Order: sequence, then structure tokens, then C-alpha cells
Amino acid sequence: MSLRLGDIAPNFKAQTSTGEVDFHNWLGESWGVLFSHPADFTPVCTTELGTVSKLQEAFAKRNVKTIALSVDSVESHLEWIKDINETQNTEVTFPIIADPDFEVSKLYDMIHPNASDKFTVRSVFVIGNDKKIKLIITYPASTGRNFDELIRVIDSLQLTANYSVATPANWRNGEDVVIAPVIKDDEIAAKFPKGYTKIKSYLRTTPQPNL
Ligand code: BEZ
Repeated sequence: MSLRLGDIAPNFKAQTSTGEVDFHNWLGESWGVLFSHPADFTPVCTTELGTVSKLQEAFAKRNVKTIALSVDSVESHLEWIKDINETQNTEVTFPIIADPDFEVSKLYDMIHPNASDKFTVRSVFVIGNDKKIKLIITYPASTGRNFDELIRVIDSLQLTANYSVATPANWRNGEDVVIAPVIKDDEIAAKFPKGYTKIKSYLRTTPQPNL
């Protein structure tokens, strides 16, 4: 059965480049990004893992841990990390799961047989600190991900988890947000003391409330 938003992220134990991980214990109180890539020693994946490595401070600021996965072995990951560090000018410290038996890949539906039955696609799962799945995105092997976009989405997810707002198209942290339709006009002053703009009865904006 495929996973859906709001499901508890299935727990697993796996060998990784930094030792054995029990996923839920490893997450602890943090949010998590679990992302698969097709294979070690491939060009796009090398740039992706280098990029995630360089964004570690941005993820940590948001209380987010990252963990990668491919069907290669721990030994392969450790050798490849040397190349990533060298070519991407970084130091990969987050774990890469070794999934040669497809156990985690199948649990998270990361093998899409019409793309390949041997390698994982580029899946991304964002998991909240309640262990629930907040976001699922799938990219094909040929398209490297935009991890700045992932940070942008995490900002939206963390904001909307705490306030009755939603974020409009192309929103960036710091910009005005949309007041949730369930909030009545006469409740707005108490909830959003910075004021609001009513464009339509269903379209009301307010300054980002957590700034
Ligand atoms: C890559 O990471 O460069 C890649 C991996 C599998 C297929 C195509 C590209």
C-alpha cells in the first residue's frame, strides 16, 4: 500500500554510512527528510548529496535531520562520500541508508518499476516531529532536485502547523500569508494582531504571524 500524507512514517532499522539507524529513534524530536537517489557514483546524485550537505545548517536551524537512501552497500556509500566531499567541496556527515535488499525502498514505495525495477527513483518524504508524513514528492532519475525549494516548503509546513494560515503560490519566508478559510472575519483581530487585507471574502492576507 502506498503512503499518504498524514500517515505515520513507517519505522525501520537499517545500516547506514554512519552506523545502524532505528529510524524513529534517530528522528527523536526532530523533523526529518528521507530522500532516495538511484545509485552511488552517478553525476546528478553526487551534486544532490553535495547540495544537501551544504544545507545542513539551514536544515538544523529548522530542527530537520536529513537521511539519504540508495540500494548500494555501506562500503559503496563510504567510498562515494569521498568523491562527493572532493568534487562538491563539502563534508557529508548525514547518514546514507544502504538498502541492497530493497527493504526500506519497498516500505516507502521508492521503486517505480516502469522507471526501473533495480534502482530507486528520487523520492522525498518530509516527516514532522509527530512522525507523520507532511510531504511526498517524486522526481525521475534524470532531474536533480531543488533543495532550496524543499527548505521553502519546510518553512511553510512548520508555519502552517502552528498558525491558522496557508502560504500562497511562490511564497517565501517573510512574505504575507493567507488566512485559513475556517477563520471568521470577527476572529481575525484576536488571532492576527498585525491586521489583514480582505481581497475577497475567501481571500484574506496577513503579515507572516511568527515574525
Ligand atoms: C545521476 O544521478 O546522474 C543519474 C542516475 C541514474 C540515472 C540517470 C542519472
